[in-house]
This record gives sequence, structure tokens and C-alpha cells, in this order.
Amino acid sequence: MFVVRGGQPLRGTVAVSGAKNAALPIMAAALALDGPTTLRNVPELADVTTLGQVLQSLGVQCERLPGGVLTLAVDDDQPCLADYELVRRMRASVCVLGPLLGRRKRACVSLPGGCNIGHRPIDLHLKGLRALGAEITVERGYVFAKADRLIGTEIYLGGSFGSTVTGTCNVMTAACFAEGTTTIAAAACEPEVVDLGHFLNRAGAKISGLGTPVLHIKGVERLHGVEHTVIPDRIEAATLMVASAITGGELRITNVCRPHLAAVTDTLRSIGVSIEGSGTTLRVAGHQPLRPCDITALPYPGIPTDVQAQLMALLTQADGISVVNDKVFPDRFLHIPELCRLGANVRREGASGIIAGGRPLSGACVMASDLRASAALLLAALAADGDSVIRRIYHLDRGYERLERKLNVLGADIHRVTDTPENMPQSLLLSADEECEPTVDSTDSPPPPKFLTRARQHAE
Ligand code: EPZ
Repeated sequence: MFVVRGGQPLRGTVAVSGAKNAALPIMAAALALDGPTTLRNVPELADVTTLGQVLQSLGVQCERLPGGVLTLAVDDDQPCLADYELVRRMRASVCVLGPLLGRRKRACVSLPGGCNIGHRPIDLHLKGLRALGAEITVERGYVFAKADRLIGTEIYLGGSFGSTVTGTCNVMTAACFAEGTTTIAAAACEPEVVDLGHFLNRAGAKISGLGTPVLHIKGVERLHGVEHTVIPDRIEAATLMVASAITGGELRITNVCRPHLAAVTDTLRSIGVSIEGSGTTLRVAGHQPLRPCDITALPYPGIPTDVQAQLMALLTQADGISVVNDKVFPDRFLHIPELCRLGANVRREGASGIIAGGRPLSGACVMASDLRASAALLLAALAADGDSVIRRIYHLDRGYERLERKLNVLGADIHRVTDTPENMPQSLLLSADEECEPTVDSTDSPPPPKFLTRARQHAE
């Protein structure tokens, strides 16, 4: 767990690591290459380690070298089973499905299972692979896929919640090995999908339209080994931008790809955060009062759903009412009750989160529910007055490379400790005689019903 002492503005320079959500599908695609792959700027985090284990089980030797380098080489192209015991630890393991089917013409991949951010089916993945000619059955918790031949075709890959990022990765990679040309309509435009496409093209694939909703892939016989540098992590960059804003600090954030952050930059400026950029560096300062703002998470180039929780944490400090919607994962709001434990005033109203911002946060014990919620709680704890404890930080370790170290260099006070009573801050322990006496003024209760009426009107 983390013990966090809040209240310190963050100041200094911090570098963004490589993008987790680019590294994962690229690692998976490496199993389809005839020859060694060297990846650079690969973040050291739990999900990368887990996928490395999945790939090892599929006959791919993965070796991490110093300085963010990862080498991958296929030494056995027979295995095709991605086992439940590994896949259940990281749903992104489903990214091996397309490369296995494309290169080895058969795959047995465990269904990813549940997720705290909402329903996450893979029906679009399977629809696209079937369209290429694969025979696919789903039974006993596994996807069984095989194809003597893959035939290029036209595929529409859109779903009720827009495009699918990893679904596009799977179908695009498999289509590289199909006879003829494949067109994918309603393809995901996320930079991570583009980075995978660049990686595949460097390996000999013929993909055009990357970054647009329509991809054209001309099938090839084989793909060869390559060297590739993974793009910067735009979600980590956005998280650091919010960290500067919510603590009233000033950060110089380096190794960013500013075009990937256009929606986040625009939104933060609307909230009153000052942002200046040049080249691969951003200066982000949260000196002036924050303004409420309505935000809706959308597929790229919209506000990323992976930044929704962090922005909600920031909006708790903006005096007034803000409304947050997430069109990608409409139920991605498990962070709301935990933010309320830190003193925020946030309510779930149907598909929206309604924030009555402006009330200072105060330290408390909270529990992370998923990767980005844990980041949001950490940011809120940094802004809170006093000590906070954040449990289940294994969620954070899945997707951020040594985040607490980066933040502590900037002035944060975060300690990673074992979850034992001795490590609980005294300020968070209630002594017997005060157990029934709140320490804060009880008139500081949530707003009267009229607040809800206004919020509802606003939401409508
Ligand atoms: C990727 O997940 C990211 N993960 C997620 O980041 C990210 O939140 C998400 O894209 C959206 O940007 C990786 O890249 C490893 P989707 P993915 O398929 O591909 C629905 C993080 O915190 N859908 O784009 O699994 C789905 O339910 C993680 O780093 C179907 O209906 O997401 C969702 O509502 C969390 N059928 C929407 O589409 C399908 O077959 C977008 O999902 C596939 C998806």
C-alpha cells in the first residue's frame, strides 16, 4: 500500500516512459515475425512482464536488457495455447490471438474474463478473424481458432461503443498474412494502433491508412525481424499533467508526443491549467483557480477513457458543477466512492458522474479498483490535506513505471509499505474516545437536495 502525505505542489522535470498500450500489442505481434525483434523504450511494468511470460509459453524467448530494451525471438513456432492462468492476469494477452492465427494458422486463447471498468467482450475481434476465413469456436472459457488459409476481405469493425483498439490490432496483424487485400472499416485510430502498424510495416507488411478509420492491408508471405522504438505513453503524460494541476505545481514533462495529447491539453486549458509546449516537452502549471468543466471520454482523438478518472479527481477541486461521461466504458466510475472518502462531492447520476467541486480534499484510507482509478486516487491524495493510505496498488504497478519514484523526485511524499497496522499513519487511526465524534464540522455535509435538482437539470 501507499502512505501519502498530501499538500505539496509538485515542481521539476519528469520524463514520460514508453507506452504500455503500444508495447503490449507490438510484443504480441513479434511472435509472427521470422527473425529477432529488438524493442526500445519499453516500460518496466507488470503487464509487460506478464505478456513476456505468455509469449515464453508460446515459444518466444523474451529478454529484458538495460535501458528499456526488450529482445524477442521465436525459437518454437508450434505452441498455440495462451493459458487461462496467464491470460486471467492480464486481459491484453488476447493480443496474441491475431498474430498466432496469422503466422501459425491456429490459436487457443483463454477468454480474458471480467474487468472492473466494465463489460469487455471480444466479439468484434472474433467477427474480424472469422471474416478473414478463420473457423472459431468458443467453449470451456477458450477461443479455439484455426485457418488453413486467410483470405483478404472487407470488414466493418465498429461496435456499440465505437472502435476496438486491441480488436483492430488483432485483425490488422492477422490480415498481414491473408491472401489479397483486406479493408478494415471503423478501425481504431489510437496512436498505439498506429505504432503497431508502423512496427508491422517495418517488418515487411503493407498497411496503409494508419491513424484513419479505414485501413488497407495487402497480405504478404512472411514478416522479418525488426528494431522498433515504442512511442511515449500519452496516458502517463496526461496523468503527470493532472498531477501538476491538482497540486498547484509546475512541471516540465519531457519525452511527450504533443499531438497525441491534443484533447487532454484542450480540456485542461478549459479547466484553467496553463500549458505551453515545444518539441517533445510540455510545461504544465496549476497556479490559478480551477474552473468546472463537462467532459466526455471518447475514442481517439477524443478525451481518452484512460484519463477520465484522473480528470474527475482534478474537477473535484474546481469550484462548481462538472459532469463526466464515458462513452467508451460507461460504467468506469468505481473511483467515485473512493474519491468521496477523500472528501470529494461526486455522485453517479445514470451514465454520468456529477461533481460538486471546490471542497478541499482530506486524507483518508482508500482502495484502488483498477489501473487508472488507482492513478486518480494517488493524484487526489497528493492534493489532500494530511495523510492518505491507498490499498491494492498492484493495479497501479500494472500500468505505470515507478510512478511514485517519479513523483517523489518532484516533491511528493509517497511511501510504498506493507499493509500492516504499524504502517498506518496515526492521523488515520480513530482512538476509542473519538470513534463517534467526527473531527470535521458536521455542517460540512453534502449539499441539500436542491443541489441534486440543479445537478440533474445541468446533466439534462
Ligand atoms: C484498450 O483496451 C486499452 N488497453 C485500454 O486501456 C483502453 O481503455 C481501451 O483500449 C479504450 O481506449 C490496451 O490497449 C491493452 P476496446 P481494449 O476494445 O482494446 C467494446 C488501460 O487502462 N468492445 O477499444 O480492450 C468494449 O466493451 C486500459 O491502459 C466490444 O463491444 O478496449 C468497450 O466498451 C484499460 N466488443 C469499447 O468497445 C469487442 O470485441 C472499447 O473497447 C471489443 C470491444
